[in-house]
Amino acid sequence: MELNSVKPNLQVEVGGVRLKNPALAASGTFGYGEEYAPWTDLGKIGGIVTKGLSWEPRLGNPTPRLAETPAGLLNAIGLQNVGVKRFLQTKLPALRNYDTAIIVNIFGHTEAEYITVARELSLAEGIAALELNISCPNVTQGGMQFGATPPSTYQIVSAVRQATHFPLWVKLSPNVADIAAIAEAAQAAGADALSLVNTFLGLAIDIRSRQPKLANITGGLSGPAIKPLALRMVWEVAKKVEIPVVGIGGICCAEDALEYIIAGAHAVEVGTANFIDPQAIPKIVAGIETYLLENGVADIHSLIGSLKLPEREV
Ligand SMILES: Cc1cc2nc3c(=O)[nH]c(=O)nc-3n(C[C@H](O)[C@H](O)[C@H](O)COP(=O)(O)O)c2cc1C
Repeated sequence: MELNSVKPNLQVEVGGVRLKNPALAASGTFGYGEEYAPWTDLGKIGGIVTKGLSWEPRLGNPTPRLAETPAGLLNAIGLQNVGVKRFLQTKLPALRNYDTAIIVNIFGHTEAEYITVARELSLAEGIAALELNISCPNVTQGGMQFGATPPSTYQIVSAVRQATHFPLWVKLSPNVADIAAIAEAAQAAGADALSLVNTFLGLAIDIRSRQPKLANITGGLSGPAIKPLALRMVWEVAKKVEIPVVGIGGICCAEDALEYIIAGAHAVEVGTANFIDPQAIPKIVAGIETYLLENGVADIHSLIGSLKLPEREV
């Protein structure tokens, strides 16, 4: 097949953030960005979502905090992070040197902490958006409980909405019965975009010791094992909301990313795959571009939500 030599458009706008391409690094799997600079060209990545930040620094959960499962990774890091002040002093300045969008993932143990974190970050320059984590399964206080029901989601999102002028992406948990209802609550409360999903609550047991493999007992499952589950959620939510959806879950290659885009995602975040190949994201971007060229698609927008469904017999 002869390829059209004109470069297709990969630029997308997600909730007030212009991205040079639709593949971002997912929070918690890419440190604060700089850790990956020796291994990959950060300028080729659509955006970097930094490790979840709380007001105070956190050491996270006791070890062991990671267990591999078939086609998956179970983690219970417990939101280890340097805290807002050190992030602003030592991490953000380095990140500003790279030509990529910086999205800062935040969380709190209380609503007041979420607000303080959002306010303090809003004074900084070089941040494109905040991603509100209301979906971490690995902390006893805060995290997932905020995003567990539509009313609690509405409450926390509207509180943070009032605390920041930055675009606000809200990251949802898959550990709920009806994710579309939670998504609609986040949209009604003023979210500019939705990131979905965070990890699936799981358990792994060492049969010799008969103990859980993780010190935290349970953990969050990520990686290829969750892709069909997350993809179904993205598809369901993208049909229901007006705001853009960022697809996350098990994306390892361009084909995976394209499935999410066809299901309705405006962009994707890549997580666990970064641990296997630090160049996974630039490779995904190149693969998306090749697919667009090969299929004569001039603009990625015409692919978003283009899923063709079989016609049902009446
Ligand atoms: C080790 C690890 C740490 C993570 N830390 C965070 C975090 O701090 N904040 C957050 O919102 N999500 C966090 N996540 C979830 C990822 O951002 C992502 O939603 C999830 O891993 C699914 O994507 P994947 O299958 O591509 O890894 C973490 C995931 C892993 C594996």
